[in-house]
Amino acid sequence: MGILRLSHVVVRVPDIELATAYYSEVVGLIETAREPERVYMKCWDEHQHHSVVLEYAPTYGLERLGFKVEHDSDLDDLATRIEAAGIPTKRFEPGELGVGSGYTVQFVAPSGHTTELVWGMAQVGNLLPLTNPPPEPQGLVGIHPPRLDHIFLMCEDVDEITAFYTEVLGFRLTEQILADDGHQLVTFLERTHTPHDIAFITGPNGAFHHMAFWVDDWNEVRKAADICSYHGIPIDAGPTRHGATRGHGLYFFDPAGNRNEVYTGGYWTDPDREPVTWTEAEIGRAVFYYEGVVDHRFMTVHS
Ligand SMILES: [Fe+2]
Repeated sequence: MGILRLSHVVVRVPDIELATAYYSEVVGLIETAREPERVYMKCWDEHQHHSVVLEYAPTYGLERLGFKVEHDSDLDDLATRIEAAGIPTKRFEPGELGVGSGYTVQFVAPSGHTTELVWGMAQVGNLLPLTNPPPEPQGLVGIHPPRLDHIFLMCEDVDEITAFYTEVLGFRLTEQILADDGHQLVTFLERTHTPHDIAFITGPNGAFHHMAFWVDDWNEVRKAADICSYHGIPIDAGPTRHGATRGHGLYFFDPAGNRNEVYTGGYWTDPDREPVTWTEAEIGRAVFYYEGVVDHRFMTVHS
């Protein structure tokens, strides 16, 4: 019951044709619909209409993010909880928020991010038949991740947003990086029994650090780095190992300056697992386990 997983990310881009070319040819997403100022895309193995929407704006950053809920009644239950926490909510009918959109509850989280809960988004199927499917469609280009994995956002008060996500939205804390004075610098939160569906790091409210696409193994991370280099895409960090989440990742930027990641690995987590804590002195290995230090750009550059 409740939130199933990250559903969609709406990203601002000033040059929608350039961004569409990048997300289709380098990342390898599938375009599912187009409006004059929006392009709808999905990863090949996702069944819902879109997981990434490129929206024209004179700047970059995150317009909004959405989580998919399991039942339509979850929308009412969660809206009641959000309202009880003093946060107003708005309701939208299918199609009101763009092509394929479902029944939606929208609110502004304490982190400043416009956030949605959605049920009933249009389903378009993955690119495989439901009977006797091969493991992967032919003809995919670029990195072609099978699905969107997680989103990493910034906000001024990580303790506050973590309490909101755990107490109101029902997320579980898997890991945290604590400052020496005890406040949370970074937190990792999940609904899918993976290390994180969303994470928060200290920074400006409303800021977008990165969105991550799942790839199936470490070799795919290496191939993603090859593809980025081939296309002249600036690599930010990696391929490397994260201490927190135990995953492997590679960071790079889209043409607008929004950070992308490809991510694999990590552990499976049961709901009764105790959170792991990293100390401020070990933040380098928590983020980049091999390098042991976090570079200034990674901690401060966002969109
Ligand atoms: Fe990440």
